[in-house]
Amino acid sequence: MADLPFLPYGKPVLERDDIEAVTEVLESDFLTMGPQVGAFEQAFADATSAPYAVSCSSGTAALHLATMALGIGPGDKVIVPTMTFLATANAVRMAGGEVVFADVDPTTGLMELEHLEKAAAGAGSGVKAVYPVHMAGRLVDMPALSEMALERGWSVVEDSCHALGGRYRYADSGEGWVGDCRYSDAATFSFHPTKTIASGEGGVTTCKDAAVRDRMLLLRNHGMTRSGFANTEQAFDGNGDPNPWYYEMQEIGYNYRLSEIQCALARSQVLKLERIAERRREMRARYDEGLAPLHPKLRTIMEQGNTDTVLHLYLVHIDFPAIGMDRATLMNRLRERGIGTQVLYTPVAWQPYYRDRYGDPDLPGAAAFYGSSLALPYYNGLGDDDIDRVIEEIGKIIAP
Ligand SMILES: Cc1ncc(COP(=O)(O)O)c(C=O)c1O
Repeated sequence: MADLPFLPYGKPVLERDDIEAVTEVLESDFLTMGPQVGAFEQAFADATSAPYAVSCSSGTAALHLATMALGIGPGDKVIVPTMTFLATANAVRMAGGEVVFADVDPTTGLMELEHLEKAAAGAGSGVKAVYPVHMAGRLVDMPALSEMALERGWSVVEDSCHALGGRYRYADSGEGWVGDCRYSDAATFSFHPTKTIASGEGGVTTCKDAAVRDRMLLLRNHGMTRSGFANTEQAFDGNGDPNPWYYEMQEIGYNYRLSEIQCALARSQVLKLERIAERRREMRARYDEGLAPLHPKLRTIMEQGNTDTVLHLYLVHIDFPAIGMDRATLMNRLRERGIGTQVLYTPVAWQPYYRDRYGDPDLPGAAAFYGSSLALPYYNGLGDDDIDRVIEEIGKIIAP
């Protein structure tokens, strides 16, 4: 045991070609806003069949840019599932909007139409958008959700940070990639080191409207523009030609740019997305099969009928009363055996900041999902023998 490696729940896997891609940038003339930005954005748009892809400094920035570009601001309400990372809700607050938390299904962690209906009914007027989250990589029923959003005039932003590489097989309209925005205005991605592809920090928003893309490009760079000048006296010379140094800022923006180094790394990884996705599917199948004998004390992730998912997290649900052990004890015992696990996530509505602001909404599905779930090691560097070791150690503890 002592010399077996520790297996964290997630970690980045960089290969020689990723390192070479970064080295090339370090030897080039640009460290930011050079040729890698457009090259990465194009590769990402190609991989997801997105009309447009805008890179930025994190998945949080991606959500914030989408929120601002869609015109969501002070007083506007946005429905967000409570089972997500903080960022989905925080982006709404960063733009001055108000979050309306929706519950999720206790077994999938996904916000379904019934949860959305209930949240909308409780919110009253002022709902402007809904931000479905493809939790762990399972896919929200986007055709159904977008139909409801269209009827009510809501914008839709898919938080796809867990679902890169996932694909829908629609009943009547062929196939579609997560991020193609067929059923949404925008979709956001993160390249945080535990994600399916990594660039250290980094994000992308895909969208289908050129005007939304242009707003995001403006807002990710301080709102700086070199056209449509308001201060014509400074902007133009005596002949009416634009002065070569002149730029203007007409509204507040941010520095949400992604560096050349990060774009090169993210591009190198996204170009291999198919291979990365294939291995993640194999790992999932191995876990599913190996853990099946532990049912019903431990439930694995259910396949979704009409999708090819690429999971970001491998979550299991454990009946802790049935195994006679609480979650912290199980996590500690696995850690002693070199196996890292994690709980994702504490429902965001329970965070003190949100409780102070909105009280304590009734979210029983999320409470049940949270109470039973555990993320097992799941990353591309994990070998079959590592997976077998995790399965064996869990088996020894919960079904000795
Ligand atoms: C569902 C979800 N949304 C948003 C984010 C924010 O991404 P980032 O950490 O890159 O800001 C994350 C990742 O951490 C996430 O898991």
